[in-house]
Amino acid sequence: MQVKYDTILVLDFGGQYCHLIGRRIRENGVYSEIVAHDISPEEVKALGEKFNVKGLILSGGPSSVYEPNAPKLNPRILEVNLPILGLCYGHQLLAQLTNGKVKPAACKEYGISQVAIDKPVGVLEGLDKEEKVWMSHGDTVYELPADFEELAHTENCPVAAFRHKQKPIYGLQWHPEVIHTTHGAAMLHNFIFEVCKCEANWKVEDIIEKMVQEIKSEVGSAKAIIGLSGGIDSSVATALAAKALGDQLTAVFVDHGFMREGEPEAIHETFSKLPIHFVMANAQDRFMQKLVGVSDPEKKRKVIGEEFIRVFEEIAEKTGAQYLLQGTIYPDRIESGIRKNSDVIKSHHNVAGLPTNIKFKKIVEPLRDLYKDEVRKVAVMLDLPKELVNRQPFPGPGLAVRIIGALTEGKVTVAKKADAVVRQEIEKSGLAETLWQYFAVLTDTKATGVKGDSRAYGYVVAVRAAESREAMTANFAQIPYPVLERISTRITNEIPQVTRVVYDITHKPPATIEWE
Ligand code: XMP
Repeated sequence: MQVKYDTILVLDFGGQYCHLIGRRIRENGVYSEIVAHDISPEEVKALGEKFNVKGLILSGGPSSVYEPNAPKLNPRILEVNLPILGLCYGHQLLAQLTNGKVKPAACKEYGISQVAIDKPVGVLEGLDKEEKVWMSHGDTVYELPADFEELAHTENCPVAAFRHKQKPIYGLQWHPEVIHTTHGAAMLHNFIFEVCKCEANWKVEDIIEKMVQEIKSEVGSAKAIIGLSGGIDSSVATALAAKALGDQLTAVFVDHGFMREGEPEAIHETFSKLPIHFVMANAQDRFMQKLVGVSDPEKKRKVIGEEFIRVFEEIAEKTGAQYLLQGTIYPDRIESGIRKNSDVIKSHHNVAGLPTNIKFKKIVEPLRDLYKDEVRKVAVMLDLPKELVNRQPFPGPGLAVRIIGALTEGKVTVAKKADAVVRQEIEKSGLAETLWQYFAVLTDTKATGVKGDSRAYGYVVAVRAAESREAMTANFAQIPYPVLERISTRITNEIPQVTRVVYDITHKPPATIEWE
């Protein structure tokens, strides 16, 4: 029998850190699911069939509780008798809903604040009198109803934390989920274990069997194909699907022509050895034809997403496959705008880039709730080759989204060469293991240069190297100048069409990791 995991539901009010709350809970060995902000008590109860729901966290969000269309909590949620923790917008919403008073703060607080802990109880148990916390709010709670009590304040925020006097309901104006809140982990730990009384019974190890069973029950005895890019997500999904489906499965690698140098050969070498059907679809011309003149990044992603599906459909027709499996992971879905109150950041080719008319009976995504680092753990447990586990992520649309603007074959050649130089030099310098991703971007800007004694007018290549844990946030890496110098010298010497190399020094946010 499958164990039911103790679970905390995170109600999503659209805040940029919502996913981090989910991650932090799972890091404590407790399962978490992100759910719609207006979930009803009946829906919570229905989730109880699958999980042991032990508590709710209301995330932050960009709205003000006074805006006419601000996302609201279903008021009946307060009657479900589960512990509730409201964070930032969630804190204000709880106060408003229970007749407390919220108004625009006299002085808005963004960044690190000093908070005075007046009563170190419940979620705040064990904290110091003064704590460093991360705040990001325009409104503030300044009065509570009689059945609530204030637990902490800041200079500008009279009620920075509160609790209900009898029920396990808490609000924190700050974000315990971000690392800048010094004891944020202790606050969440208190909520999870002391307030919600969760048992840490969720392990990535357990989910392999669960995912294999899920694939089996979705696909049954039918045939399926899986899109395999050679990246870690689709490789892990393929390994799981192979366990579940054996030779009912065909793995399809689509060579769209925007892979890195040497990549199609390497993928063929690795995967044609596995005991599954492996098909390599040579689709370079058809992708290029569809992309001629397309310069808008979102359009590019959609054209690519659709063409992938068309190739899969053609192969499925030959093999008789009714199901398509994909290695979509959680952040792909978040950024593609599966959430009600957040923006589409970019349409990941395998999510929002998909066409609406698809010939498959169903798309099955076994990794849809996992973050990249969790996928890596699963890869290790499945004994996938080390080079594959540690491979830097590579977007499905490949170099097509690293060539800014419209594509031409000439630009693809330049991008491939520049990318190869960045990879070789970073790997030679020993920095590769510390980096999430490192690559070249071919910008659509040209610049003047001088090569030999002559004027040259050529492309500007940008180098991007980022450190990250799960790709939802990232820092540009402080690559030593000598390494950057070697990269720049080699690119401008070896690729005559390039006159200038620049280094991207932007974190995510505000930038994303990829340029398109
Ligand atoms: P961004 O650029 O949104 O990227 O910061 C986050 C991570 O996702 C990868 N990425 C993609 N992967 N299909 C994918 O399979 C896509 O369409 C796609 N777009 C971005 C990106 O390389 C980074 O690791």
